[in-house]
Amino acid sequence: MSNSCKKAYITTPIYYVNDIAHIGHAYTTIIADTLARYSRMTGLDTFFLTGTDEHGQKIEEAAKKRGESTQDYADKISATFKNLWDEFDISYDKFIRTTDEEHMKGVQKAFSTMYSKGDIYKDTYKGHYCISCETFFPEIQLVDGEFCPECGKSTTIVEEESYFFKLSAYEDKLLAWYNDTPDCILPRNKKNEVIRFVEGGLQDLSITRTSFDWGVKLPSDMNDPKHVMYVWLDALMNYITALGYGKDDANMDYWPARVHLIGKDILRFHAIYWPAFLMSLGLPLPKHIAAHGWWTRDGEKMSKSKGNVVNPKEVADAYGLDNFRYFMLREVPFGGDGDFSQKALIDRINSDLGNDLGNLLNRVIGMSGKYFDGEVDSSNVTKYYQNELDEVESSLAKLEPLLFEMQIHRYLEELWRPLTVANKAIDKYQPWTLMKEGEEEKAMALNGLIASILAKVSVMLYPVMPKVCTKISNALCFKIDNDSWNRLTQNKELLSPFNLKKIDPLFPRIEEAILKQIEPEHNNKIEEPKIAKKTELKEIEGITYIGIEQFFETSLKVGTVIQAEEVPKSKKLLLLQVDLGEDEPRQIVAGIKEWYSAEDMLNTQVCVVANLKPAKLMGHISQGMLLAAKDEDGLCMIRPEKPKTAGTPIG
Ligand code: MSP
Repeated sequence: MSNSCKKAYITTPIYYVNDIAHIGHAYTTIIADTLARYSRMTGLDTFFLTGTDEHGQKIEEAAKKRGESTQDYADKISATFKNLWDEFDISYDKFIRTTDEEHMKGVQKAFSTMYSKGDIYKDTYKGHYCISCETFFPEIQLVDGEFCPECGKSTTIVEEESYFFKLSAYEDKLLAWYNDTPDCILPRNKKNEVIRFVEGGLQDLSITRTSFDWGVKLPSDMNDPKHVMYVWLDALMNYITALGYGKDDANMDYWPARVHLIGKDILRFHAIYWPAFLMSLGLPLPKHIAAHGWWTRDGEKMSKSKGNVVNPKEVADAYGLDNFRYFMLREVPFGGDGDFSQKALIDRINSDLGNDLGNLLNRVIGMSGKYFDGEVDSSNVTKYYQNELDEVESSLAKLEPLLFEMQIHRYLEELWRPLTVANKAIDKYQPWTLMKEGEEEKAMALNGLIASILAKVSVMLYPVMPKVCTKISNALCFKIDNDSWNRLTQNKELLSPFNLKKIDPLFPRIEEAILKQIEPEHNNKIEEPKIAKKTELKEIEGITYIGIEQFFETSLKVGTVIQAEEVPKSKKLLLLQVDLGEDEPRQIVAGIKEWYSAEDMLNTQVCVVANLKPAKLMGHISQGMLLAAKDEDGLCMIRPEKPKTAGTPIG
């Protein structure tokens, strides 16, 4: 999908108000928000729509069960969605409700238009209806002659007068659309499912109901007041009524949608009914319909009865909104199902975000603070580091198509390559060595390279992690907007000279041992945290066993020795400065002089216990301990087998 159109209209499904938001809803919304933010950043005139789907039997019954009027109930739940998206800083341009007067008028106008075209006729519907899915099913599709093939719930037999939409008349046109537009349904493999379904034959669709009341009435000139519109006809129309269809067409120039983001369960409605309705209305078809997979919880389907529904707000509060956004988008290939587990989330935060991204920022802050008084100047980067720059630019060039082909996990994967280039460059060129050898210009260029890589990455990561990337750009003294996107990522420019601002670490390490408890939202019983549980010490055959969480209480990291000297008057001690990827190197006093000279240790890598309480040895503070093995033949250091970035955790 190319970025050539001037306008971009991006939508989420509108959410049913029979339940409050869970991570599945948050997922769709966060993806759409990411695409909308990216579109705006690249200068497209973007319109991002979300909202709530409030009509239908399911909502009417949910309100009744709670003893509330349907409108009050819909108002209340709709507000919970809107508030959540506001708290999540979702950048929607309009929040539509299907109970909005203007929407309802638009639906009636659409009905009249399709009717005048001869695509709607009146008959009697006889068949099975699943209230939960708000879908009619022919008998042949039912499980055991009764149960819904989608959700497994019991269906009800409906026999009532109904208006029908001539869906069958659109079979060939739909098939032609699928065939002629390769990316109309993403991921592409989902398109085959749709094609197979349509090739199996389409029946006309019952689009009105008479057995309940909570819906959009037919246009008054139809003089048929007992009918209300089928909830999916009503709901799908939101994508155009939000733009003023049926009123003033004020924003209809955003149509057709660049992408409708949906879950795989509602693909059929979007990929079959919706384009058929649009064809009947004489409107262009959406450019893309992108269907994502489902989230499960610790391997199980989320459901109210199991009490394992994950509340997105609790996750965001516990682990940070941007971290949660990154996790959802990085963890699962778009279209595939994903499992929500806190362990996986913590791993992503500690590893991708903490080690790769956060650490790099700490390193550049440390480097410029220590050697250049906070100054960063990229003027000589191309003179010394062209290869690194080429690698970075080649990754950046691959990004945009990945995003709009909905390969968002690959987008993030590719975006991490420049971070690896940057971290490796520090390890390879060692600013401390450059400074020692008087190569100040080259060290400054390294500083400029790292800062510019961070800037480019933060621009491209901004749509996924807006708050974090704004912090990074503040530290690097630039603003993320269309101008910086153009300069840094399209024109391959580097940062102009600036003075770096120190900021607090962005991703403090989360130890699994203090795994945060995300409560299932629909019951009050607090689940035992599966991983955080303290294992009792057990003694078996003389071995004292500890739980894995106790092991993780020790922070072990790879360090690089950047200075080494003897402790005067001591036979045993060396005084080392060890880079652990933090702002400042750690001073470590090590009792290894009998086996290693200061020279032996310089520029080698070691394994460090990084969270030992500091201690004083012969008047010197020691801020860590080196791992070593000692037997009758002497002592040897434990080192990584291959060079690793300073600060890489061990475990
Ligand atoms: N109201 C309809 C959509 C009408 S759009 C014209 C609807 N609403 S819904 O609230 O049930 O679902 C909204 C979206 O949430 C769907 O895209 C659905 O796929 C998604 N999810 C609901 N549960 C989910 C998970 N467990 N995981 C991922 N997404 C899921 O359908």
